[in-house]
Amino acid sequence: MTQIIDGKLISLQIQDEIAAEVKIIKANGGKTPHLAAVLVGNDGASETYVGAKVKACEKIGFKSTLVKLEAATTEQELLHIIDGLNNDTDIDGYIVQLPLPKHINEHNIVEAIAPQKDVDGFHPQNIGRMALNLPTYLPATPYGIMQLLERYKIDTAGKHCVVIGRSHIVGSPMSILMARNTNPGNCTVTMCHSRTANLKEFTLKADILIVALGKAEFVTADMVKDGVVVVDVGITRVPSTETKSGFKLLGDVKYDEVSAKSSFITPVPGGVGPMTIASLLMNTLKASRREVYK
Ligand code: GUN
Repeated sequence: MTQIIDGKLISLQIQDEIAAEVKIIKANGGKTPHLAAVLVGNDGASETYVGAKVKACEKIGFKSTLVKLEAATTEQELLHIIDGLNNDTDIDGYIVQLPLPKHINEHNIVEAIAPQKDVDGFHPQNIGRMALNLPTYLPATPYGIMQLLERYKIDTAGKHCVVIGRSHIVGSPMSILMARNTNPGNCTVTMCHSRTANLKEFTLKADILIVALGKAEFVTADMVKDGVVVVDVGITRVPSTETKSGFKLLGDVKYDEVSAKSSFITPVPGGVGPMTIASLLMNTLKASRREVYK
Protein backbone atom coordinates (compact mmCIF):
# COMPACT_ATOMS: atom_id res chain seq x y z
CA MET A 1 0.00 0.00 0.00
CA THR A 2 1.23 3.48 -0.81
CA GLN A 3 1.40 6.00 2.00
CA ILE A 4 1.16 9.65 1.00
CA ILE A 5 3.51 11.89 2.96
CA ASP A 6 1.37 14.87 3.95
CA GLY A 7 3.74 17.83 4.16
CA LYS A 8 0.94 20.31 4.65
CA LEU A 9 -0.26 18.47 7.76
CA ILE A 10 3.24 18.05 9.23
CA SER A 11 4.07 21.69 8.53
CA LEU A 12 0.94 22.81 10.41
CA GLN A 13 1.76 20.43 13.28
CA ILE A 14 5.27 21.91 13.56
CA GLN A 15 3.84 25.45 13.48
CA ASP A 16 1.46 24.51 16.32
CA GLU A 17 4.38 23.07 18.30
CA ILE A 18 6.39 26.28 17.82
CA ALA A 19 3.37 28.46 18.71
CA ALA A 20 3.04 26.54 21.99
CA GLU A 21 6.76 27.13 22.71
CA VAL A 22 6.42 30.84 21.96
CA LYS A 23 3.52 31.09 24.42
CA ILE A 24 5.71 29.57 27.13
CA ILE A 25 8.63 31.88 26.30
CA LYS A 26 6.35 34.94 26.48
CA ALA A 27 4.63 33.75 29.69
CA ASN A 28 8.06 33.47 31.30
CA GLY A 29 8.94 37.02 30.26
CA GLY A 30 11.35 35.89 27.54
CA LYS A 31 12.11 37.71 24.32
CA THR A 32 9.78 37.19 21.36
CA PRO A 33 11.66 35.44 18.51
CA HIS A 34 12.20 37.91 15.67
CA LEU A 35 12.77 37.01 11.99
CA ALA A 36 13.63 39.58 9.32
CA ALA A 37 13.38 39.02 5.57
CA VAL A 38 15.07 41.11 2.89
CA LEU A 39 13.44 41.26 -0.53
CA VAL A 40 15.17 43.06 -3.39
CA GLY A 41 13.09 43.90 -6.49
CA ASN A 42 9.60 42.83 -7.52
CA ASP A 43 9.90 39.20 -8.55
CA GLY A 44 6.35 37.84 -8.19
CA ALA A 45 7.29 34.39 -6.89
CA SER A 46 9.75 35.84 -4.36
CA GLU A 47 7.13 38.32 -3.12
CA THR A 48 4.70 35.41 -2.58
CA TYR A 49 7.29 33.30 -0.72
CA VAL A 50 8.41 36.15 1.53
CA GLY A 51 4.77 37.14 2.18
CA ALA A 52 4.02 33.56 3.28
CA LYS A 53 7.05 33.56 5.60
CA VAL A 54 6.02 36.83 7.26
CA LYS A 55 2.41 35.65 7.62
CA ALA A 56 3.53 32.38 9.24
CA CYS A 57 5.59 34.39 11.76
CA GLU A 58 2.54 36.41 12.76
CA LYS A 59 0.42 33.29 13.10
CA ILE A 60 2.75 31.56 15.54
CA GLY A 61 3.57 34.66 17.59
CA PHE A 62 7.01 35.60 16.22
CA LYS A 63 7.89 39.19 15.48
CA SER A 64 8.77 39.77 11.81
CA THR A 65 10.31 42.58 9.82
CA LEU A 66 10.16 42.84 6.04
CA VAL A 67 12.89 44.94 4.44
CA LYS A 68 11.72 45.70 0.90
CA LEU A 69 14.30 47.25 -1.42
CA GLU A 70 14.00 48.44 -4.99
CA ALA A 71 15.49 46.40 -7.85
CA ALA A 72 18.14 49.06 -8.48
CA THR A 73 19.64 48.65 -4.97
CA THR A 74 23.43 48.31 -5.29
CA GLU A 75 25.49 45.53 -3.76
CA GLN A 76 27.12 48.12 -1.50
CA GLU A 77 23.74 49.36 -0.28
CA LEU A 78 22.57 45.80 0.41
CA LEU A 79 25.79 45.04 2.30
CA HIS A 80 25.10 48.11 4.42
CA ILE A 81 21.58 46.85 5.23
CA ILE A 82 23.05 43.43 6.12
CA ASP A 83 25.55 45.07 8.45
CA GLY A 84 22.61 46.75 10.18
CA LEU A 85 20.74 43.46 10.57
CA ASN A 86 23.88 41.72 11.89
CA ASN A 87 24.15 44.39 14.59
CA ASP A 88 20.46 44.70 15.47
CA THR A 89 20.20 42.88 18.79
CA ASP A 90 16.42 42.47 18.54
CA ILE A 91 16.66 40.43 15.31
CA ASP A 92 17.45 36.78 16.04
CA GLY A 93 17.72 35.62 12.45
CA TYR A 94 17.13 36.84 8.92
CA ILE A 95 17.04 35.75 5.31
CA VAL A 96 17.86 37.48 2.06
CA GLN A 97 15.41 36.09 -0.48
CA LEU A 98 17.10 34.65 -3.57
CA PRO A 99 17.48 35.10 -6.49
CA LEU A 100 18.90 38.61 -6.29
CA PRO A 101 19.03 41.02 -9.26
CA LYS A 102 21.85 40.11 -11.66
CA HIS A 103 24.07 43.07 -10.72
CA ILE A 104 24.41 41.78 -7.14
CA ASN A 105 26.85 38.96 -6.36
CA GLU A 106 24.87 36.45 -4.30
CA HIS A 107 27.93 34.84 -2.82
CA ASN A 108 29.19 38.17 -1.43
CA ILE A 109 25.81 38.74 0.18
CA VAL A 110 25.48 35.28 1.73
CA GLU A 111 29.01 35.50 3.14
CA ALA A 112 28.19 38.86 4.75
CA ILE A 113 25.33 37.38 6.80
CA ALA A 114 26.45 36.72 10.38
CA PRO A 115 26.52 32.87 10.62
CA GLN A 116 24.62 32.97 13.94
CA LYS A 117 21.75 34.82 12.22
CA ASP A 118 21.82 32.78 8.97
CA VAL A 119 18.52 30.92 9.48
CA ASP A 120 18.57 29.89 5.79
CA GLY A 121 21.72 27.86 6.51
CA PHE A 122 23.37 29.13 3.32
CA HIS A 123 26.56 30.62 4.81
CA PRO A 124 29.69 28.54 4.00
CA GLN A 125 30.39 28.24 7.74
CA ASN A 126 26.97 26.68 8.35
CA ILE A 127 27.30 24.36 5.35
CA GLY A 128 30.69 23.27 6.72
CA ARG A 129 29.14 22.65 10.13
CA MET A 130 26.42 20.56 8.47
CA ALA A 131 29.04 18.42 6.70
CA LEU A 132 30.86 17.94 10.03
CA ASN A 133 27.62 17.08 11.85
CA LEU A 134 28.03 20.05 14.20
CA PRO A 135 25.05 22.10 15.46
CA THR A 136 23.92 24.38 12.63
CA TYR A 137 20.95 25.76 10.72
CA LEU A 138 19.98 23.28 8.01
CA PRO A 139 18.74 24.79 4.72
CA ALA A 140 14.94 24.90 4.60
CA THR A 141 14.16 22.25 1.99
CA PRO A 142 16.63 19.59 3.22
CA TYR A 143 15.58 20.24 6.83
CA GLY A 144 11.93 19.84 5.82
CA ILE A 145 12.64 16.55 4.04
CA MET A 146 14.54 15.22 7.08
CA GLN A 147 11.54 16.12 9.26
CA LEU A 148 9.16 14.27 6.93
CA LEU A 149 11.34 11.13 6.93
CA GLU A 150 11.64 11.29 10.72
CA ARG A 151 7.98 11.95 11.48
CA TYR A 152 6.80 9.21 9.10
CA LYS A 153 9.34 6.88 10.80
CA ILE A 154 10.84 5.90 7.46
CA ASP A 155 13.67 3.44 7.86
CA THR A 156 16.76 4.92 6.21
CA ALA A 157 19.76 3.15 7.80
CA GLY A 158 21.61 0.95 5.34
CA LYS A 159 19.34 1.96 2.47
CA HIS A 160 20.49 3.15 -0.92
CA CYS A 161 19.44 6.78 -1.36
CA VAL A 162 19.66 8.26 -4.85
CA VAL A 163 19.53 12.05 -5.09
CA ILE A 164 18.90 13.62 -8.50
CA GLY A 165 20.17 17.20 -8.54
CA ARG A 166 23.28 18.87 -7.13
CA SER A 167 22.06 22.39 -6.33
CA HIS A 168 23.60 24.12 -3.33
CA ILE A 169 20.21 24.51 -1.68
CA VAL A 170 18.74 21.01 -2.18
CA GLY A 171 20.62 18.18 -3.92
CA SER A 172 24.05 18.75 -2.47
CA PRO A 173 23.01 19.23 1.20
CA MET A 174 20.48 16.38 0.90
CA SER A 175 23.19 13.94 -0.17
CA ILE A 176 25.39 15.03 2.76
CA LEU A 177 22.53 14.69 5.28
CA MET A 178 21.42 11.25 4.09
CA ALA A 179 24.98 9.90 4.39
CA ARG A 180 25.59 11.26 7.92
CA ASN A 181 25.63 8.97 10.94
CA THR A 182 22.21 10.20 12.14
CA ASN A 183 18.59 9.15 11.98
CA PRO A 184 17.31 9.82 9.36
CA GLY A 185 20.58 9.14 7.56
CA ASN A 186 23.10 6.30 7.47
CA CYS A 187 22.27 5.75 3.80
CA THR A 188 24.58 4.76 1.01
CA VAL A 189 24.15 7.82 -1.20
CA THR A 190 24.47 8.21 -4.95
CA MET A 191 24.25 11.77 -6.25
CA CYS A 192 23.13 12.05 -9.88
CA HIS A 193 22.91 15.21 -12.00
CA SER A 194 22.48 16.50 -15.53
CA ARG A 195 25.75 14.89 -16.69
CA THR A 196 25.06 11.46 -15.17
CA ALA A 197 25.24 8.71 -17.83
CA ASN A 198 22.61 5.94 -17.69
CA LEU A 199 20.56 7.62 -14.96
CA LYS A 200 17.95 4.87 -14.97
CA GLU A 201 20.55 2.30 -13.88
CA PHE A 202 20.92 4.31 -10.66
CA THR A 203 17.28 5.20 -10.04
CA LEU A 204 16.29 1.54 -10.41
CA LYS A 205 18.61 0.73 -7.50
CA ALA A 206 17.15 3.41 -5.19
CA ASP A 207 15.39 2.44 -1.96
CA ILE A 208 14.89 6.17 -1.38
CA LEU A 209 14.72 8.52 -4.37
CA ILE A 210 14.99 12.27 -3.82
CA VAL A 211 14.26 14.20 -6.99
CA ALA A 212 15.26 17.86 -7.29
CA LEU A 213 16.09 18.65 -10.89
CA GLY A 214 13.22 20.95 -11.84
CA LYS A 215 11.85 19.06 -14.85
CA ALA A 216 8.13 18.34 -14.70
CA GLU A 217 7.19 14.64 -14.57
CA PHE A 218 10.75 13.55 -15.40
CA VAL A 219 10.74 10.36 -13.29
CA THR A 220 8.47 7.66 -14.73
CA ALA A 221 7.35 4.27 -13.38
CA ASP A 222 9.91 2.31 -15.44
CA MET A 223 12.71 4.18 -13.60
CA VAL A 224 11.85 2.98 -10.06
CA LYS A 225 11.63 -0.33 -8.26
CA ASP A 226 8.66 -1.59 -6.24
CA GLY A 227 8.48 -0.28 -2.68
CA VAL A 228 10.62 2.83 -3.31
CA VAL A 229 10.30 5.89 -1.05
CA VAL A 230 9.92 8.94 -3.30
CA VAL A 231 10.58 12.55 -2.26
CA ASP A 232 9.63 14.98 -5.03
CA VAL A 233 11.10 18.47 -4.65
CA GLY A 234 10.06 19.79 -8.08
CA ILE A 235 7.45 22.50 -8.54
CA THR A 236 6.78 23.53 -12.14
CA ARG A 237 3.82 25.77 -12.97
CA VAL A 238 2.11 24.67 -16.19
CA PRO A 239 -0.99 26.01 -17.95
CA SER A 240 -4.10 23.97 -17.18
CA THR A 241 -7.76 23.97 -18.23
CA GLU A 242 -8.63 21.96 -15.08
CA THR A 243 -8.12 24.80 -12.59
CA LYS A 244 -9.73 28.20 -12.05
CA SER A 245 -6.36 29.94 -11.97
CA GLY A 246 -5.45 28.48 -15.38
CA PHE A 247 -2.30 26.88 -13.89
CA LYS A 248 -1.39 23.75 -12.03
CA LEU A 249 1.76 22.63 -10.24
CA LEU A 250 3.65 19.56 -11.36
CA GLY A 251 6.44 17.75 -9.54
CA ASP A 252 9.54 16.14 -11.03
CA VAL A 253 7.82 12.76 -10.71
CA LYS A 254 4.96 11.39 -12.82
CA TYR A 255 2.85 10.99 -9.72
CA ASP A 256 0.05 8.58 -10.68
CA GLU A 257 2.24 5.87 -12.17
CA VAL A 258 5.18 6.23 -9.77
CA SER A 259 2.98 6.31 -6.65
CA ALA A 260 1.51 2.94 -7.68
CA LYS A 261 4.98 1.40 -7.16
CA SER A 262 5.96 3.44 -4.06
CA SER A 263 5.75 2.61 -0.36
CA PHE A 264 5.83 6.35 0.52
CA ILE A 265 5.58 9.38 -1.76
CA THR A 266 5.36 13.15 -1.36
CA PRO A 267 2.67 14.76 -3.55
CA VAL A 268 3.00 18.08 -5.41
CA PRO A 269 1.58 20.34 -4.15
CA GLY A 270 1.31 19.50 -0.43
CA GLY A 271 4.50 17.49 0.05
CA VAL A 272 7.92 19.10 0.45
CA GLY A 273 6.81 22.66 -0.41
CA PRO A 274 4.87 23.49 2.78
CA MET A 275 7.74 22.17 4.91
CA THR A 276 10.14 24.96 3.96
CA ILE A 277 8.27 27.50 6.07
CA ALA A 278 8.21 25.14 9.05
CA SER A 279 12.00 24.72 8.70
CA LEU A 280 12.62 28.45 8.65
CA LEU A 281 10.51 28.90 11.77
CA MET A 282 12.33 26.04 13.55
CA ASN A 283 15.67 27.66 12.67
CA THR A 284 14.46 31.05 13.92
CA LEU A 285 13.38 29.51 17.23
CA LYS A 286 16.84 27.89 17.51
CA ALA A 287 18.44 31.27 16.78
CA SER A 288 16.39 33.04 19.45
CA ARG A 289 17.39 30.35 21.96
CA ARG A 290 21.06 30.55 20.92
CA GLU A 291 20.99 26.78 20.44
CA VAL A 292 23.46 26.70 17.56
CA TYR A 293 25.91 29.44 18.52
CA LYS A 294 25.96 29.86 22.31
N1 GUN B 1 14.74 31.19 -2.87
C1 GUN B 1 14.26 29.94 -3.07
N2 GUN B 1 14.32 29.23 -1.93
C2 GUN B 1 14.86 30.04 -1.00
C3 GUN B 1 15.15 29.87 0.39
O1 GUN B 1 14.98 28.82 0.99
N3 GUN B 1 15.70 30.95 0.99
C4 GUN B 1 15.94 32.12 0.36
N4 GUN B 1 16.49 33.12 1.04
N5 GUN B 1 15.68 32.31 -0.92
C5 GUN B 1 15.12 31.27 -1.59
